[in-house]
This record gives sequence, C-alpha cells and structure tokens, in this order.
Amino acid sequence: MSRLKSTILKIGGSVITDKGKELEVRMQAINRLAEEIQNANVENLIIVHGGGSFGHPLAQKYAIKEGFKKETQRIGFSETHHVMTVLNGLFMDALIWRNIPAVSITPCSCIITENGRIRCFEDAPLKLFLKAGFLPVLYGDAVPDTKLGFTILSGDQLVSVLATRFNAERIIIGVDVDGLYNADPKVKKTAKMFRRLTLKELKKLQNKLGESTACDVTGGMWGKIAELLPAIELGIPITIVNAAKPNYIYKTLKGEKVKSTLIEKE
Ligand code: IPE
Repeated sequence: MSRLKSTILKIGGSVITDKGKELEVRMQAINRLAEEIQNANVENLIIVHGGGSFGHPLAQKYAIKEGFKKETQRIGFSETHHVMTVLNGLFMDALIWRNIPAVSITPCSCIITENGRIRCFEDAPLKLFLKAGFLPVLYGDAVPDTKLGFTILSGDQLVSVLATRFNAERIIIGVDVDGLYNADPKVKKTAKMFRRLTLKELKKLQNKLGESTACDVTGGMWGKIAELLPAIELGIPITIVNAAKPNYIYKTLKGEKVKSTLIEKE
C-alpha cells in the first residue's frame, strides 16, 4: 500500500454529459471542472469519471454488463470502450491544456474482474505516476472478466478500490444533485437531503434511496453508494457534492464547507 495520503475524486457521468441525449458532452462543465481542479491544486489526487450518455446507452444496447453471450456483443464491447476513451480524451484535453500533468489510465488494459468484481488490478504504473507528481485519471469502462468474458466496471467500484489501495484520506463524489436524498430529488420535489450520515444510518436507508431516472447500467444512486461501503468501513469519509454547481468541487477539494452530504464511519 502507498504511504501517501491521497484524495479520490469521482465526477459523475451526469455532470460531464447530458444523460438525456446519447453521446452529448457537456464541454462547458468539463472546462469549468478542469479549472476548479487546477485552482485547488491538491496533491496526490486521483480522478475517476463516469460514462453518462457515452458509456451507458451502448452498454445497455449490447448488454455488456451481463457478459459475453453472442457474437454481436463483441463489436458492442469495442464501441462501449471506445466511446469511453473519446469522453476521457475530452476530459484529458481540458486538464492538459490547463497545464495539469494528467495521465489517462485505461481500466480496460489494467483491470480484470471476476463476475463483475475487481479481481486483478495492475496498479504499479499508477503508483509510480502518483509518486512522480502526475494526476492519474481513470473512468468507468468495459473490461475483461474471467467468468463473464467481459462486463462493465463502474467508476464507483473503481473509486472504492483506489481509495483502499492508495490510502485515501477522503473521497469526493461529484454528482448533479446537492447530495444524498431519501428519494430521487428529480422525481420527488419533497425529497429530503441528508447533511451527515453514519455508516449505520446509511445502511438503514438502503432500501429507501431513490433510483436514477436516466439510463444507468451500474445501479443508480444506491448502486453507487453500495460500492462505497467498503471504503466507509475503513474509515474513509465520503462527501457527495453537486459538481454541476460552479466552485462546489473547488471548495470541497480545498476542505471548505459547501452544501453536501458527508458520510462517515461513526
Ligand atoms: C459507467 O461508469 C461506465 C460505462 C457504462 C462504460 P459509471 O457507472 O461510473 O458512470 P456514471 O457516473 O454512472 O455515468
């Protein structure tokens, strides 16, 4: 395990793409976030971004998460992975043009899952990049799977594993709502947002949490939170914050308080 204390930042696909329109990037949001990341200048940062309307619709069309069942899925795997590299390229452009020494780490080439769970992760290059002062950027991806042939690895499972391996002192999850609610705030106007939750409280809420309305093959909001439970159990605090609102990610990276949900072990 690395001794450096790291920060893991996930930017949800719903922030950097329009989940209502296939392959629709939100370039303005990507540029703004790149600026916020540059201004915050956090050491030992690892970024993971989601798939939004790039990865999810294709993954769904070809049933990539369910694994290899028929020949026609092969091109579907290639398409799904490819559009993720395109989205990642746009994100990398925005970072590198701002002089941020970001390096893209493609999960498809260094991770193997077993029934959808990360089984093997060749993280030595990532470790060296981090130590050398680079900003590694990963993303939810279509990956090889020992049992299924292939599957979809969510950015959230990746966040949890990175947090454990890279000794994270905090995890920041940037989404397109203000935090974690007791129902989907996009559907239910009366949904109540939680400011702080303990692991125990979170587990009790498991069944009540809202489902994502748009196309999402990796489980909606609760699916995302469930992936983060192992990290919370290790005592790594998680802040869920609105990355679609200007400066919320900047302030959270700087340790300043903004409207958000903080989840802690106790
Ligand atoms: C999904 O990653 C990746 C693919 C569908 C290829 P995530 O599940 O982390 O993406 P978002 O944040 O929900 O869009």
